[in-house]
Amino acid sequence: MNKPIHVMFFCLGNICRSPIAEGVFTHLVKERGLDSYFVIDSAGTSGYHVNEAPDPGSQRVVQKRLGVEIGHQRGQLLTLQHLNTFDVLVALDSKNRKDALRLRPDVHIHLMRDFDTEDRGGDVPDPWGFDDSQFELVFDIVHRSCTRLLDHLIDTNALETT
Ligand code: 4NP
Repeated sequence: MNKPIHVMFFCLGNICRSPIAEGVFTHLVKERGLDSYFVIDSAGTSGYHVNEAPDPGSQRVVQKRLGVEIGHQRGQLLTLQHLNTFDVLVALDSKNRKDALRLRPDVHIHLMRDFDTEDRGGDVPDPWGFDDSQFELVFDIVHRSCTRLLDHLIDTNALETT
């Protein structure tokens, strides 16, 4: 079997937005029977929340909307090693993208909302410190964008879905 496609989602803290993205994308991949084709992870451009579980707002919204538990995830810092080894790099906002490009200027980094079919481009807003409605908004954007991203990866890698 070919090497799995390594997909890395990253934001600033790796406790709000990118854990939602990791949880949603993992769920979509499982739904389509594609587990064996992917390695999925998330990280933050800051080390403020290393080893912390996702924000309670992120855990609640993914549980509520998908019935999926993401409480086992732990914050980690995005490193040069990640940029060297992951095939698909997805930044949640343009500042995260810019910061990661400082580590390695020549890699291609997607912006999550470039895959947002309803409202293409721009940033996934940071919900940190806001109430659950902001986490719901982030979930909707991330779910739409991850769905389109997965379709794109299925097409470009000729993956067979079940
Ligand atoms: P995230 O949200 O980047 O979506 O994980 C944030 C979490 C923590 C901080 C900022 C954003 N912080 O400044 O600690």
